[in-house]
Amino acid sequence: MSTTPSAPAAAPAATEAASPYSRKNPFPAKLVTNRRLSAEGSGKEIRHFEISLTGSGLSYEVGDAMGVYPQNCPELVQEILTVLGASGEEMVNGAAGSQVPLRYALSNDYIITQPSKEFIASLAAKIQGNSVIKDMLADPLRKDDLQKYLWGMELIDFLVMNPSIQFSPDELIGTLRKLQPRLYSISSSLKAHPDQVHLTIACVRYESHGRQRKGVASTFLADRCGHESAAVPIFFHTAKHFRLPEDPATPVIMVGPGTGIAPFRAYLQERKAIGGGGKNWLFFGDQRSNYDYLYRDELEAAQADGSLTRLDTAWSRDQDKKVYVQHKMNEHAEELWKWLEEGAHFFVCGDAARMAKDVDAALHQVVEKAGGRTPPQAAEYVEGMKKAKRYKRDVY
Ligand SMILES: Cc1cc2nc3c(=O)[nH]c(=O)nc-3n(C[C@H](O)[C@H](O)[C@H](O)COP(=O)(O)OP(=O)(O)OC[C@H]3O[C@@H](n4cnc5c(N)ncnc54)[C@H](O)[C@@H]3O)c2cc1C
Ligand SMILES: NC(=O)c1ccc[n+]([C@@H]2O[C@H](COP(=O)([O-])OP(=O)(O)OC[C@H]3O[C@@H](n4cnc5c(N)ncnc54)[C@H](OP(=O)(O)O)[C@@H]3O)[C@@H](O)[C@H]2O)c1
Repeated sequence: MSTTPSAPAAAPAATEAASPYSRKNPFPAKLVTNRRLSAEGSGKEIRHFEISLTGSGLSYEVGDAMGVYPQNCPELVQEILTVLGASGEEMVNGAAGSQVPLRYALSNDYIITQPSKEFIASLAAKIQGNSVIKDMLADPLRKDDLQKYLWGMELIDFLVMNPSIQFSPDELIGTLRKLQPRLYSISSSLKAHPDQVHLTIACVRYESHGRQRKGVASTFLADRCGHESAAVPIFFHTAKHFRLPEDPATPVIMVGPGTGIAPFRAYLQERKAIGGGGKNWLFFGDQRSNYDYLYRDELEAAQADGSLTRLDTAWSRDQDKKVYVQHKMNEHAEELWKWLEEGAHFFVCGDAARMAKDVDAALHQVVEKAGGRTPPQAAEYVEGMKKAKRYKRDVY
């Protein structure tokens, strides 16, 4: 089934009123910078992108996210056309309701990577006789088996594996789900970079079932934008829940391992531009210090000029035992507690599945250990931070 994450419904950006552009009418922006942040030899490909907003009338606030409408990989589109025996000129229903050429629909309108439920059901219906997939579909108790079977499989695999099964262009399009925009945390401040928006993106590339796979939006930006003709359709997504404290003198604690650093780079730029004297503490972590130290020069410069008060790094693979940001929080519990008691706002950004939960547990431990609270009292303290909008998360 399709596991492509869809972007949550966007609240209109505060500044959209001043611009003709919006989620429904994205701005065709120019990508002006695309460089690798993680060093050659890193296990990951993290990239820094700079996009020009010139002529858009759009603006954003730090903490907001930006939406990108990607296009699918043209080689994958061609491969699907070849298997279908289609030229790409055949007219089909586009996602907007009008008739468009098949190649355009597969490139711009529909998910052609993870197969939809409808595609799998339609395929199963066309298979003569018994098949594993038919058996799993027929048995509601085998839902998990089906999920496992589908993990890492893409539409093209099923088309290639079943050469005798024919889909007409209309039939295939009828089974596909609409391609969704992807959201990215903004990693710049307009006060430091007028008319630009920066992003910090982990490019999704992996191998499964003998094929190289590419994440749709991250590789669209990494591999196929930046030419005169290739605009990036963008919009802004307001994140009112992830704003800096109004008083620039308020201390801020930021926990952002991996690409979770993105909004905190923006916060640091903003707080430096505003002044106000508020202290800033960043917990950053990634796999190896020599390869994955994102924005190292900028962070060291910010420490040197005093705009970053404190930086603690956790390198998970520089030694045998894992060291994560939450270990650094525990190590510095006394100091962290002092900042919390001074009214610091506590921000977390990055992986939702594991990191955010573990950081939340560490925050409770800090309150217990350094604040001398029992577990229920610590829970109450953290709940109080949330109610006072001093504990803010943007996790994905
Ligand atoms: C509010 C918000 C902010 C975000 N900010 C950022 C950010 O700052 N930086 C950033 O990098 N991302 C960010 N993301 C995530 C981003 O939106 C995309 O989800 C991400 O870039 C992947 O999109 P994609 O189109 O490249 O990959 P997709 O085409 O969506 O592919 C991802 C899918 O590929 C499959 N997959 C991935 N790896 C494997 C594997 N090894 N084996 C089998 N299948 C696999 C999974 O089904 C996965 O869901 C944010 C998300 C949200 C909601
Ligand atoms: N849903 C998931 O299971 C999952 C997992 C990873 C990444 N992602 C997504 O992949 C994208 C890119 O990730 P990224 O490269 O930015 O960062 P990342 O994969 O989250 O890694 C950043 C750092 O966090 C560490 N880490 C792993 N588990 C942790 C935990 N429980 N607590 C604290 N730190 C932990 C990693 O260590 P190690 O790698 O050495 O363990 C690494 O040093 C993001 O969209 C992220 O959400 C999702």
